[in-house]
Amino acid sequence: MARLSNEEINAIAKKTSIVDIIGSYLSLEKKGKNYFGICPFHDDHTPSMSVNEEKGIYTCFVCHKTGNVFNFVQEYENISFLEAVKEVANKTGIELNIEFQTTSKYDKYYNALDLASKFYQNHLKSKEGKKARAYLEERGLSEVIIEEFEIGYAPSEFDTITKLLLNKSFDEELLINAGISGRGNSLYDLFRNRITFPIHNAQGKSVGFSARIFDNSNDAKYINTKETPVFKKGEILFNYHRAQNEAKRKKVLIIVEGQMDAIRVYASGIKNVVATMGTALTNDHVKLLKRLNVKVVLCMDNDKAGEQATIQNGELLSKNEIDLGILRIEDAKDPDEYILKHKKEAFLDAVANAITFFDFKMNYLKKDKNLEKVDDVSLYINQVIKELNKTNDDVLINLTINKLSEEYGVSKNVLYDKVIKVESTPKISITKFQKKKQNKDEMCCALMLYYMMNDTKYIEFYEQEISFVPMERYEKIANELLAFFLKYNYINIADFITYEIESDHYEDVLDIIDRNANIELSDAEFVGLIERMKNLNAEKKIEELKQQLKLASDINEKSKIIDEIANMKKRMCKE
Ligand code: CTP
Ligand code: MN
Repeated sequence: MARLSNEEINAIAKKTSIVDIIGSYLSLEKKGKNYFGICPFHDDHTPSMSVNEEKGIYTCFVCHKTGNVFNFVQEYENISFLEAVKEVANKTGIELNIEFQTTSKYDKYYNALDLASKFYQNHLKSKEGKKARAYLEERGLSEVIIEEFEIGYAPSEFDTITKLLLNKSFDEELLINAGISGRGNSLYDLFRNRITFPIHNAQGKSVGFSARIFDNSNDAKYINTKETPVFKKGEILFNYHRAQNEAKRKKVLIIVEGQMDAIRVYASGIKNVVATMGTALTNDHVKLLKRLNVKVVLCMDNDKAGEQATIQNGELLSKNEIDLGILRIEDAKDPDEYILKHKKEAFLDAVANAITFFDFKMNYLKKDKNLEKVDDVSLYINQVIKELNKTNDDVLINLTINKLSEEYGVSKNVLYDKVIKVESTPKISITKFQKKKQNKDEMCCALMLYYMMNDTKYIEFYEQEISFVPMERYEKIANELLAFFLKYNYINIADFITYEIESDHYEDVLDIIDRNANIELSDAEFVGLIERMKNLNAEKKIEELKQQLKLASDINEKSKIIDEIANMKKRMCKE
């Protein structure tokens, strides 16, 4: 991977607001100097993560995750540090002139899948692909869309693509692992006589296929690439790489179930659409969505399964604080059919009129109930109250209670009582994250280093006064702080994190920051720390001398050591 220098990375950090970036993933609230939000790295129920704009760092006082803006994005999106730098630059609107040639250990997979895709695409245009072409035409997919989505045709012979790729010197294991070939007596093509839809990851790399039958055979309608190192259904959203920019522009992303739905919506000119490919949304999908920082409109199929999927996916999205709208289409079985029937504008209107997840659930709970009957009303109200207990939105609670009270003649007080009575969210056990205990001396060293990370005057003072820390791992960090200062002539805590990223004691650096992030710096305290360091050094020296004394046999040598110890003690400052 092309390297970015620390200077370049720091320049990006300088132009970036950590509050804006983290605020695009979670909502932050200002309290005093810091901003606070629900920590995304543990099961947090109260805002435990603080973000300090001035220092450019975040810390969670429960799970102790700490770092600069890049660390946050890296951790949140589960990407490499450099990818995080790229992502932050992108969000801040900084053009990076370097090409990230991501030489990945999976390049062979991408290349094989890409070649397979190109082959399938070509094959669609061949004589053998005629029926497949006719099917696509019948479904109203234009040449342009077929081209753009790289739709192809996998021939019906036993091992066409396998042979081709083997001839291109891809090995058998790779073809099997990439989900292109299966192994029987010999290797065979997994996709045969099907229309192929290549699937890409967020970076636009080919990772697999979904392949559809197009005659009336009894085979499964779709077969997809099985789970492979590069294709994990739970991490992929069909069309994400094409949709992401448009979604950011429109500030909305539409999620549908099937790739044909996504293709239809996209082909109508609404390009901010992705498909889940028939699975439930996962936490990894949530990460992809959070990255966009846009509203999500869920538009699942118009059937029972689609309704269930709306509830399941909706719960996950709202739990993750994604701005969510629900669109239940009527008068068509899925978005594909809806657009063919009612055209693009009607669908756009429906997207604009998507209802809240809460309203969707209110409607859903009314279904199959006879609200003329007391039993059903009681059941309904209790179910709504249960939903209300999932939200902290006082206004929503208030409005809903007023509505229920008016509609069903139940006293508001009774309803409020119920909302409060339901057990509150379990308190998270802090012990799980408790840090290992530090002794007082360690704490002093850590605190002194923290001072040095914040202001060059403390580095200078340290250098002149002691230039030694009596603990090896802290001593190294002190030296690196000094090196950073000598090289750049400034100090900045967030930049120092970047500087230390490949150092062996990177974790210690984060630990020091985490432990001390909320203290107020004072010169007097620092002077005290320096005195203490001196004493610690002296104590250490005295211990060494005492050992020497034990071993010494010569009387002159002994008295020399005793003098030295006495001198050391005299020099030690009073604590
Ligand atoms: N799916 C699958 N295997 C199946 C059926 C469906 O993997 N046997 C996945 C596919 O990714 C499909 C999605 O689930 O796109 C939604 O399924 P469905 O609604 O049945 O497909 P449609 O999008 O309606 O496809 P088509 O219009 O081509 O029938
Ligand atoms: Mn369909």
